[in-house]
Amino acid sequence: MNEITIVRPDDWHVHFRDGEMMRTVVAETARHFGRAIVMPNLVPPVVTRADANAYQRRIEAALAEHGMQDQFKPLMTLYLTEQTDPNDVVAAAQSGDVQAVKLYPAGATTNSASGVSNIDNVMPVLEAMADNNVVLCVHGEVTNPDIDIFDREARFIEDVLQPLRKRLPSLRIVMEHITTKHGADYVSSEDSNLAATITPQHLLLNRNHMLVGGVRPHYYCLPILKREEHRKALVDVACSGDRRFFLGTDSAPHEKHTKENSCGCAGVFNSTVTMACMAQLFEQQHALDMLEAFCSKNGPAYYGLPINETTITLRRSEKPVTLPEHVINGDINVTVFDPAQDINWRVV
Ligand code: DOR
Ligand code: ZN
Repeated sequence: MNEITIVRPDDWHVHFRDGEMMRTVVAETARHFGRAIVMPNLVPPVVTRADANAYQRRIEAALAEHGMQDQFKPLMTLYLTEQTDPNDVVAAAQSGDVQAVKLYPAGATTNSASGVSNIDNVMPVLEAMADNNVVLCVHGEVTNPDIDIFDREARFIEDVLQPLRKRLPSLRIVMEHITTKHGADYVSSEDSNLAATITPQHLLLNRNHMLVGGVRPHYYCLPILKREEHRKALVDVACSGDRRFFLGTDSAPHEKHTKENSCGCAGVFNSTVTMACMAQLFEQQHALDMLEAFCSKNGPAYYGLPINETTITLRRSEKPVTLPEHVINGDINVTVFDPAQDINWRVV
């Protein structure tokens, strides 16, 4: 197959940032995707319905600068803090202003300082969400300094997620950017109210890509890349068509100099090349017929939204395509994800 047309995909996990950076990256997503769940980890974070409304207007203004305001819809999230007001969350979700609430364990990742230290302190919010069918997106890593960074996802499942799901079985949860076989197996083993997003980098790369032959800061993200056996487990569930797994790029732009640094920022900026990489991967797995489920159908089904009405077409060429290496806007320079293999697909 040299050409495939699928329902326009959505990105169920993206970081747009704000200001000039947002204006730089927003079109990279809007070009291929119909909607995206926009993460709220700004400084200060997007905590209230009013914050989300204001941020959405800024994103829409940036889209309008690119003439893309009618082809792309940002879906907003709230950043869960220990001060979050349950009534504000429910009102935001019921009005449609907000699609989900994001739980960051305090200290887990970029701009997570306002996150949750003790889950008991947010139980009233989580209970209100469960009662009102509001999705909770979780950054599933424990932050205890004694826990090895490669074990933090597995420990989160055991120590936080499983107890939370026992306590509140009706709460609908998305485990964001799963990176391990533990994550894939756990989500696969549960019947309902649990799904997971998976990123392009965790589907294409393992930790050797980041660490062998020199440290590659543009592959550093959180959760960190894992062993090959984990990557394979993610590929299997992504390509299976299982409705509980869908694409969330976790595209997270940082300026080049802040990643190529003695203390580099976590985040991979991949929006520009994600769909080409996904077609390449699904072709290799003889699973091109599942590409649409993973990228365009499973996410809306879980969130209870219609699929997009338009389509995109991907075409395969004999020769590898030349992928952009940077997205540049004035002084801002963001390095684009390098999939570390030839890519023969492009979005037409
Ligand atoms: O690598 C990451 N970057 N992981 C996250 O969880 C946050 C993100 C960011 O905002 O830079
Ligand atoms: Zn993220």
